[in-house]
Amino acid sequence: MTKCDRNVWLQGGNEVCCREDAPPARPYRLVLLGAPGVGKGTQAELLSERLQACQLSTGDIFRAAKAADPSTLTPAMRDALGYMQRGELVPDDTVIALVRERMTCLRCPYGFLLDGFPRTVRQAEVLDEMLAGENLHLDFVLNYELPFEEVINRLSGRRTCRVCKTTYHIVTKPPRQENVCDKCGGELYQREDDRPESIRVRLQAYEESTAPLVDYYAKHGILRTISAEGSPQEIFARTMQILSERTA
Ligand code: AP5
Repeated sequence: MTKCDRNVWLQGGNEVCCREDAPPARPYRLVLLGAPGVGKGTQAELLSERLQACQLSTGDIFRAAKAADPSTLTPAMRDALGYMQRGELVPDDTVIALVRERMTCLRCPYGFLLDGFPRTVRQAEVLDEMLAGENLHLDFVLNYELPFEEVINRLSGRRTCRVCKTTYHIVTKPPRQENVCDKCGGELYQREDDRPESIRVRLQAYEESTAPLVDYYAKHGILRTISAEGSPQEIFARTMQILSERTA
């Protein structure tokens, strides 16, 4: 199976990812919801391998924008970078513009795993409009739940590869060689927002802006809540069990 090309999502535009395998007859279109550090990215990686769908993370776009040559940034990315450099939250309209620049990924015949978007009720409403305009719909919104102390443990021990973005944990998923990515040999680093002072701010923003999405999607009948306790494989098995509920 060929892997999805996440650069198409990171860079935006009209490129499509070139894959040799045939798309699934019924692709999955999912949103992964949950507090920072609950393990959405880890599950997205496992789901992506099993379902062929690409992980579409808005957080990854922001981090890519920070590292990119400024002359290559789209207007929405430049806008987002400005907010981040001033230490402000990126407003809904800018995030929505970024996702609009990546409509190709939402239309992808392999499906998608949205990770970090939508993050507010307004973003969710606009996503509904975007999908309806393409005659597409979400299969499920997977809401991962984890006790607060465990969220802090997961975030403070996370290390990320600068090159391929694979995530590790210094205790639960250490790399074979300290600070070196097992997959590509890239350097591992601690994300700026994984430092204790930033973690508190992120969890507060989640409670205020993102937690209301649980009610929003429950009303739409597509919310499925999953315990994020246990090993990644155990959580993945719970997730697959829920996906098997999908009817024709
Ligand atoms: P984003 O990158 O989306 O961050 P997040 O939602 O805060 O989520 P994380 O990536 O921190 O955590 P995760 O749940 O994916 O956990 P992971 O799998 O890595 O966004 C970053 C920032 O960008 C936001 O704070 C916001 O400011 C901005 N932003 C993004 N989207 C936006 C939007 N739409 N609107 C406005 N602003 C936006 O796991 C964490 C650690 O735990 C890892 O080390 C992992 O190895 C470990 N781990 C995972 N699962 C397990 C397990 N089962 N057992 C033990 N350890 C585990």
